[in-house]
Amino acid sequence: MNDIFSPGFREFSSQLLTAFCKGTEHNVVDKSEVIHLFEKFVDNNFETIQKYAYVDPTKNYTRNLILENEHFSLMVLCWNPYAKSCIHAHGGSQCWLRVLKGQVKECLWDCDPYKESKINTPPHRVSFANPNDVLYIDDNKGVHCIENLENPTITLHCYAPPYKSSKCFDASTGAEFIGSSIFDSESLLLKNPNLSPFEEIYGGDEVMEDAGCGCDDYGKDCSCGH
Ligand SMILES: [Fe+2]
Repeated sequence: MNDIFSPGFREFSSQLLTAFCKGTEHNVVDKSEVIHLFEKFVDNNFETIQKYAYVDPTKNYTRNLILENEHFSLMVLCWNPYAKSCIHAHGGSQCWLRVLKGQVKECLWDCDPYKESKINTPPHRVSFANPNDVLYIDDNKGVHCIENLENPTITLHCYAPPYKSSKCFDASTGAEFIGSSIFDSESLLLKNPNLSPFEEIYGGDEVMEDAGCGCDDYGKDCSCGH
């Protein structure tokens, strides 16, 4: 049950810790190094990661924490069809998202999240991420929202350092609010009674031909996504 301590997870966690502890002046990590670690870990540990993929069919997306320490958090998010996150900043953290199954659409606003009180303009950039693709964002890059289309989607996320809340903007009105990070499961401990394994809900035939990652969602049960 405790896959966190499998050899693959131990190695990955140790490598992430090394990367995040290199201690640059502003504690910023070389994003390409983490992307490389993601690729290596996911390709060799896909079945293990999949065990964390729980779904609440009544929610936009379900947040499953794998592990968290003072330097980083690692989580699996499962997106029901047509789920969408709010527009959000990242609390000063760096964020990597890899798509494991399905596809996500990222809408990005190139702005300083802490100078904006409302976002009601079209995104400055729209892109799509498929299995194996990794998205990266931090507050210097702007704010984004993540959504998936018709395909149930699984993403793997890493935040460095972890954060408990961040500035968000309502996807419909653009109004700002503070979103809190809440998990439906933590290290395979199910905290939400509506959870079922992803495979049980959506089948596992073609589960994760490849792998990928994403963003986070915020505790507010917003119907806008992540
Ligand atoms: Fe995000």
